[in-house]
Amino acid sequence: MTQEIALIRGDGIGPEICPSVIQILNAAEIDVKWFELEAGLAAFEKTGEAISNDVIDKLADYKVALKGPTTTPVGKGHRSINVQIRKKLDLYVNVRPCRTIKGVDTRFKNVDLIVVRENIEDTYGGVEYKQTDDLSIGLRISTRSGALRAHRFAFEMAQKHGRKRVTCVHKANIMKLTDGQWLQAFRDVSKDYPEIEADDIIVDNLCMQLVTRPQNFDVLVLPNLFGDIVSDLCAGLVGGLGVASGANIGDKVAIFEAVHGSAPDIAGQGISNPTALLSSAITMLRHINLPHKADLVQKGMNYALGRQQVCTADLGGCGDTESFTKAVIEGLKE
Ligand code: NAI
Repeated sequence: MTQEIALIRGDGIGPEICPSVIQILNAAEIDVKWFELEAGLAAFEKTGEAISNDVIDKLADYKVALKGPTTTPVGKGHRSINVQIRKKLDLYVNVRPCRTIKGVDTRFKNVDLIVVRENIEDTYGGVEYKQTDDLSIGLRISTRSGALRAHRFAFEMAQKHGRKRVTCVHKANIMKLTDGQWLQAFRDVSKDYPEIEADDIIVDNLCMQLVTRPQNFDVLVLPNLFGDIVSDLCAGLVGGLGVASGANIGDKVAIFEAVHGSAPDIAGQGISNPTALLSSAITMLRHINLPHKADLVQKGMNYALGRQQVCTADLGGCGDTESFTKAVIEGLKE
């Protein structure tokens, strides 16, 4: 059956890594009809709108999307379209697996953890204002209902994937109300999952432990801002942003995208690593119930990652986007 999937190519390296992934999925004979939607900086420059309501409605209709990274100007300009998409489509968790990849040389071996980031609340509401020339105020917004569903998602996911432990990350010693509520919600939800170990850790201690003993962690559940930062740290543990995949999940819609951004420093050179988006696409294939195709593409990806000469420079290789893509396709047939 033909799968109808929305596609946002995005900005920067997006238009380089998206065609690579599409080429690989085609080679794996996955029957997809892509519906291209425009969003991001390019859309903003063309229409004055980084993402239109029409695009949001279409994402809601298609229910599944693959998204390239989109540029958000720093300290000025339009709001992040990621934040808008996640909020408007109620994509309330962002799942970012972080696993040692065979063939990718890293400081630690056997890392296998999953970051579950609350995706809508916290400081990401963009509720900020300037009170005086000297004083700027930003609101951290956090609800018990939002915390409950993020924690429940983390425990359900842990149960489904045979994970043993869920760790709640917080700074409730300082932010006693917002993170206090986050932690209490975690403790309440954990009672429904007695077979899964539940514990908690303060975010600064977590960071220290992640860069010394990352193998000690299983599933981490974090508020939005900590989750954003810690998931990049975790990407660094297993080979960097070029390999870190992600999924924005809600009850009705799921959007799959890499953890990394539009990488303007390397855009247009043909050297970007498509692995992160490809891994996100593999997760998407599992989500739309094509596990055999997911396994096939995973096999092709592993084949390419095991060959230094075709891998991109961020992985210490001497290849480029094209050589990597070709090698994955070759690996599908091995
Ligand atoms: P970035 O993730 O784009 O780049 C950070 C570093 O990692 C750069 O040196 C870049 O070259 C490298 N890198 C990232 N992806 C790579 C890949 N696939 N292959 C090889 N190297 C890769 O982060 P940065 O520079 O802070 O942000 C650039 C723009 O991206 C900003 O406008 C930011 O707002 C946006 N962004 C968008 C995201 C999204 O659409 N989901 C997520 C994060 C940032």
